[in-house]
Amino acid sequence: MDLFRIEGGRQLRGSVQVGGAKNAALPIFAATLLTGETCRIRNVPDLSDIRFMARMLAHLGARVEKVDAHTYEIEAGEVHHRAPYELVRQMRASVCLLGPLVGRLRKAEISLPGGCVIGPRPIDLHLKGLRRLGCEVAVRNGYVEVEGAGLRGDYLYLGGRHGSTVTGTANMIMAAVLAPGTTRIESAACEPEIEDLCHFLRKMGARIEGLGSHYLKITGVDRLRGCDHSVLPDRIEAGTLILAGAITGGEITVREVIPGHMRALLDALESAEIPFESDPEQRLVRVLPQDKSRRPVEIITLPHPGFPTDLQAQMMAVMALTPGLSFFTERIYPNRFMHVPELLRMGADISMEGPSAVVRGSDRLFGAPVMASDLRASASLVLAGLAGEGTTYIRRIYHLDRGYEQLEIRLQQLGAVVERVDEEAIRDELGEW
Ligand code: EPZ
Repeated sequence: MDLFRIEGGRQLRGSVQVGGAKNAALPIFAATLLTGETCRIRNVPDLSDIRFMARMLAHLGARVEKVDAHTYEIEAGEVHHRAPYELVRQMRASVCLLGPLVGRLRKAEISLPGGCVIGPRPIDLHLKGLRRLGCEVAVRNGYVEVEGAGLRGDYLYLGGRHGSTVTGTANMIMAAVLAPGTTRIESAACEPEIEDLCHFLRKMGARIEGLGSHYLKITGVDRLRGCDHSVLPDRIEAGTLILAGAITGGEITVREVIPGHMRALLDALESAEIPFESDPEQRLVRVLPQDKSRRPVEIITLPHPGFPTDLQAQMMAVMALTPGLSFFTERIYPNRFMHVPELLRMGADISMEGPSAVVRGSDRLFGAPVMASDLRASASLVLAGLAGEGTTYIRRIYHLDRGYEQLEIRLQQLGAVVERVDEEAIRDELGEW
């Protein structure tokens, strides 16, 4: 089993290009089911989740060709409608197959995804939306069974107790683009990844208005065609790299990003008095060396354009090394604090107060053996290891590989001393841990 070994205490410096967004590529892959023609998708990140979705599409009957590390050709000529538990349980985002299968085949049978460490992952809003669009939806033996013969456009409100739903919105859009009539979605998610999915669908011939807003109007068409699309840059990977620069006090330029998709993070950097530059024309954000102490912040995660829950853990690592009291409240996934006990092992001073974490900034963090638990918590531990004094070992970094392409290599290019090692190869070094 691979683990990361990090020697902390070095300022990161340099420039790095950000890859395509995992959370746009996944629904876009699913959307290829809406046509029997060939789709070419470029700037796809080379991640285990993407490879898994490709396997899932092939299982459903699509021809999936990996043209190169970041380009796929997908042709969903003859596909069937059933996604089994043994596949779906490996990746929750498989749930975004529901919409396109119903749109194309008027039928879908998908295993319920189950929960994960960041909390229960309900899909009640997905099912409510499909029923509003005229589908018969049953949950039997752990499967969602959708009979979509009656699929038609309608009005639906997609807001839930935590605000909008990203993959729920993706599913409703993908069911509606081939539904007769007009669909109006209120309280739609407006994450940039949803906007990119809509751009992809428009290239296929879909008729969608209100891109980037919480209100979408979709006019159903009879069929969709293949197209060629390049996935938008990953704002979460970009934010993670910017925060790696911030926590080490270095200077990192992330290129091929869209600063307009990162406003909440940039606003938090400003509140923390972490200097940065951003240039939309040059598609870059640069975090600069800090000549004075950072300031503590209050972070509340919210649907876009609020502060993204996917950057909460990484920002907390930075604040664990920032004098003063910072507060983190999770409005999206209340349990998303698996990184806290591991940060405590590294000398952080964090206490949980109800739905919030109170972070009392330390002046030092210490390298330690820690355990990754989910994708973004893993990234938080990497950042803490980069700034910690001594050696940090991070086990179960397969979590990291789900959302970051060769992160250790990018960080090495920025001056970090981090390597991916086989746990067995350093058994003696690890001792009893
Ligand atoms: C997407 O998950 C992302 N994943 C997540 O990124 C991200 O954290 C999340 O959106 C929020 O931005 C992908 O896009 C593949 P939601 P999703 O439906 O769509 C509740 C990462 O690290 N809810 O927007 O599953 C839900 O419990 C991953 O890259 C319902 O109550 O999230 C949560 O509290 C982690 N009922 C909130 O809404 C529903 O039917 C937001 O969930 C659906 C969701």
